[in-house]
Amino acid sequence: MLLAFELSGEHKTIPASEVHACLESLNCDYTIHLSLDGCLILNIKNDADELIDILSKRLAMTHHIIKVLGIGGAGQEEILGVVDRNLPDLEGTYSIRVKRVRAYSTINTESMERKIGGIFYKRGARADLKNPQIQFRVLLTEDKSIFGYLSGSIDRSAYEARKPHYKPFFYPGVLMPRVARALVNIAKPEKLLFDPFCGTGGILVEAGLMGLKVIGGDMQRKILLGAKMNLDYYNIGYSLMFEDACRLALRDECMDAVVTDPPYGRSAAIKAGSLEEMLGKSLEEVYRVLKNGKRAVFISERPIEKLAEEAGFKILEKHLQRVHKSLTRRILVIEKSFK
Ligand SMILES: C[S@@+](CC[C@H](N)C(=O)[O-])C[C@H]1O[C@@H](n2cnc3c(N)ncnc32)[C@H](O)[C@@H]1O
Repeated sequence: MLLAFELSGEHKTIPASEVHACLESLNCDYTIHLSLDGCLILNIKNDADELIDILSKRLAMTHHIIKVLGIGGAGQEEILGVVDRNLPDLEGTYSIRVKRVRAYSTINTESMERKIGGIFYKRGARADLKNPQIQFRVLLTEDKSIFGYLSGSIDRSAYEARKPHYKPFFYPGVLMPRVARALVNIAKPEKLLFDPFCGTGGILVEAGLMGLKVIGGDMQRKILLGAKMNLDYYNIGYSLMFEDACRLALRDECMDAVVTDPPYGRSAAIKAGSLEEMLGKSLEEVYRVLKNGKRAVFISERPIEKLAEEAGFKILEKHLQRVHKSLTRRILVIEKSFK
């Protein structure tokens, strides 16, 4: 079955990487059918309904999941042809939405929805825009139109409601929940997730809400108490440690996954000789506590590829996230390679 993932436009590379990592974590058997701007179409061999249900609760940087009925060109007649040829027999009421990705298409979506509605009408289908039993979607991107059933949607408002300033303990400069969740997914955790620079616990909250056990550490007691308040607020099972990320009191190879956002060496406190030393030593410690073959996601402002490789890591992916004019986060996905 072909599933189309309608990706968020807020980042160019993270949304697709998140989908792939989630599917790999779920041991899903799939191949890439088409990779388009804002839309990833995968050929899935597993039970699609169960998968869509899990992914809709887990993903952060996807808007919708569509069961694909047909793919065609992006011209007006081509879109109508794709719908006409692939429209299934309909029982119950329906709605149709046409969505343009960026500026690839200049088609008037409302007028296209009316024209598609005409095709449905001729087949005797009844529209209900408020409470439809079946929702269809046409996505227009690059030179393609993708037509299918809207089968899963990500609750973006839940992420909005968890923005840092709505949490009981707030500290500026932290990750937004959608970014934190996507990075947790990219780390492919199994049961445990560790953040050695946990701050107010933003990453831990997102991992905890996925049902993972979370462990966090920080070198500021006030901040750790804040993380505790935030984790308690969301009823998450956690352990917190007052510790130096450069000298972790944890045994070797005990963690499934690490996602962390160390200080950038600006306003945030650095409890080490220098930023370089702190990043290098903490990478070595993260390498030590990770199980073989497992991933870490490390955020920094400066390039840390060399330090990561010196610690023993293999570099899998790099994503750049521009926060504002003078801050671009570098997000490195690294793996502890078998020795
Ligand atoms: C950028 S903040 C983390 C933000 C976090 N993602 C959040 O959601 O709040 C970095 C944190 O690292 C902590 N820190 C600084 N040096 C440390 C060290 N050597 N070991 C552990 N934590 C440290 C700081 O106290 C700060 O809370």
